[in-house]
Amino acid sequence: MYDNNPSLENIVKKINPDAQGQVIESYSDSITDKKFYIESYGCAMNFSDSEIVASILVKEGYGSTKIMEEADLILVNTCSIREKAEDTVRNRLFMFNKVKSKKPGTMIGILGCMAERLKHKLLEQEKLVDIVVGPDAYRDLPVLLRGAEDGDRGVNVLLSREETYADISPLRLDSNGISGFISIMRGCDNMCSFCVVPFTRGRERSRDAYSIVAEAQDLYDRNYNEVTLLGQNVDSYKWEDPETKKIVSFADLLVMVAEVNPLLRVRFSTSHPKDITDEVLYTIRDYKNVCNYIHLPVQSGNSRILKLMNRTYDREWYDKKVARIYEVIPDCTISSDIITGFCSETEEDHQETLDVIRKSKYSLSYMFYYSERPGTLAAKKYQDDVPLEVKKRRLSEVIDVQSEVAHDLNQKDIGKSFEVLIEGNSKRSDLAFKGRTSQYKMVVFPKTGNYKKGDYVNVRIHEATNSTLKGEIINQ
Ligand code: SAH
Ligand code: SF4
Ligand code: F3S
Repeated sequence: MYDNNPSLENIVKKINPDAQGQVIESYSDSITDKKFYIESYGCAMNFSDSEIVASILVKEGYGSTKIMEEADLILVNTCSIREKAEDTVRNRLFMFNKVKSKKPGTMIGILGCMAERLKHKLLEQEKLVDIVVGPDAYRDLPVLLRGAEDGDRGVNVLLSREETYADISPLRLDSNGISGFISIMRGCDNMCSFCVVPFTRGRERSRDAYSIVAEAQDLYDRNYNEVTLLGQNVDSYKWEDPETKKIVSFADLLVMVAEVNPLLRVRFSTSHPKDITDEVLYTIRDYKNVCNYIHLPVQSGNSRILKLMNRTYDREWYDKKVARIYEVIPDCTISSDIITGFCSETEEDHQETLDVIRKSKYSLSYMFYYSERPGTLAAKKYQDDVPLEVKKRRLSEVIDVQSEVAHDLNQKDIGKSFEVLIEGNSKRSDLAFKGRTSQYKMVVFPKTGNYKKGDYVNVRIHEATNSTLKGEIINQ
């Protein structure tokens, strides 16, 4: 196992079992008959935040409902990352207001990044909501709700340097009961020039490591088999134990969580190419339950564009990182985020992005065309000068190349066998299971034996597309 950090054993033993309460699985028995309905958009961190919000509301006496028309409180946890994301939310707000017009007294609240970005605007100018709550102000929800009930529409969009919600047990919404998110940090200090996140989420801060491990333990005790540690830049996780003054790095934290139980898979997202360390790679290599999968967004394959993006690495640095990952963990998969048509991007620059996809052999990528966001460095400094049709055409080329690369990569898995964690029935048939390999590849296979959701099985692959592997269970 991992033997160059002996102090960690003590850290793991020191976990305060009371740091996390219980994960509430059934939350319909509210003490009042008030119900909330919540919709979430954006990244996993936002979904994780909705679980914190749900927990706060349940403590306040609310029950949850999946039927919007039944709710006394409609909440939308929003994303500002691209213009489209905000348009979607705006349309939803019109829809919620229609429901409200049929059921006066229903309250509508906007949470998350769009709340933070637009602050008073949605409440005062457009009158679309009753309360506006930014990502660091969820503890204030009960007060704002009581105010709104008295006709006092409220806004709290204060960002904090300390808030991590470490003591709040998320209420697992819509969970498959197998896999849970754990936020390990909040905010981002990176200032990529295209990105709105530093403005909507504030400064980076890391959560108490013991509370993270306690949450992982709690999930494991509730039969969860997988946790995903979340942060905008997990590699810069850094927390100082107030008693021992020891600094817990991300690699240390991975070890602590991995040691909760060898049967608990540990994933994490997102890694920044400038910050991921060899120690993290060694931990992935040395701990079987730390999954062999790294989301390492490149954004662009061209060094000039990377500089304009303020990503702080160049193409050469990125290529070296990728080579190092495959050197230390040969069966690792890597995925990416890509933006096409960033300010001043030429056809040659774009070709380099196609090249980095091929060279890095991404198993998958999340691909977008550039959307200028008000207030960002790029909006202030650069011209959004690539025409929309060109951005879109480049995006479709990126999608095509990614799909070819994933197809070729997956073909290489034919004949191999992988340990798969069963997540449930396959989408297409109740006679087949779906699950993921350590490398985050989705596998579909016929149900044989007495296996059930949450079991680990070995599956031999006999067929592959660009998104799915197909196989069958082999003797354990
Ligand atoms: N913290 C993560 C990413 C968070 S946002 C990281 O650093 O990689 C998720 C992705 O959205 C980004 O990686 C980027 O590819 C994309 N994105 C962010 N801002 C964007 C914008 N203005 N236009 C298009 N895509 C954007
Ligand atoms: Fe945005 Fe960059 Fe921070 Fe990611 S690392 S959230 S892209 S500023
Ligand atoms: Fe969107 Fe905010 Fe996440 S802008 S991507 S929800 S941090």
